[in-house]
Amino acid sequence: MKIGIANDHSAVDMKKEVVAYLESQGHEVINYGTDSYESTDYPVWGEKVANAVANGEVERGVAICGTGLGISLAANKVNGIRACVCSEPYTAKYSRLHNNCNVICFGARVIGIELAKMILDEFMNTEFEGGRHERRVALITDIERRNSGKAE
Ligand code: RB5
Repeated sequence: MKIGIANDHSAVDMKKEVVAYLESQGHEVINYGTDSYESTDYPVWGEKVANAVANGEVERGVAICGTGLGISLAANKVNGIRACVCSEPYTAKYSRLHNNCNVICFGARVIGIELAKMILDEFMNTEFEGGRHERRVALITDIERRNSGKAE
């Protein structure tokens, strides 16, 4: 699978380990994140990987910051993106089965690389179940459509 990855300064080392792991699993990984430890703003990187997923440049995205929260909030502002923060594999599995999430986020300051690998395995290898979940995900898209273009 072609996967996009992005990160802020807090997650450079984690990003490198994740890229190596995903490549070892046969994925092609495109890096949209920073490789610098200099302080930077997570929304910039969240938007980059989210755009890549939304445009179809990559099939799924991985976004990492200190907690996973900021970068997920930013990614979710891009139309068509369903980004989730996961700190364990169960949620990662159901984010695909029930929510058809297309970007997974986690915190480099929260979990270690071995847990990240288990999370990634579930996220990359689980397909959307469809059925009643199609309707629910479509309702999320409706919210996006009704609210796009509205100012705060
Ligand atoms: C950076 O210090 C930190 O705030 C950022 O990586 C992230 O955790 C934000 O949600």
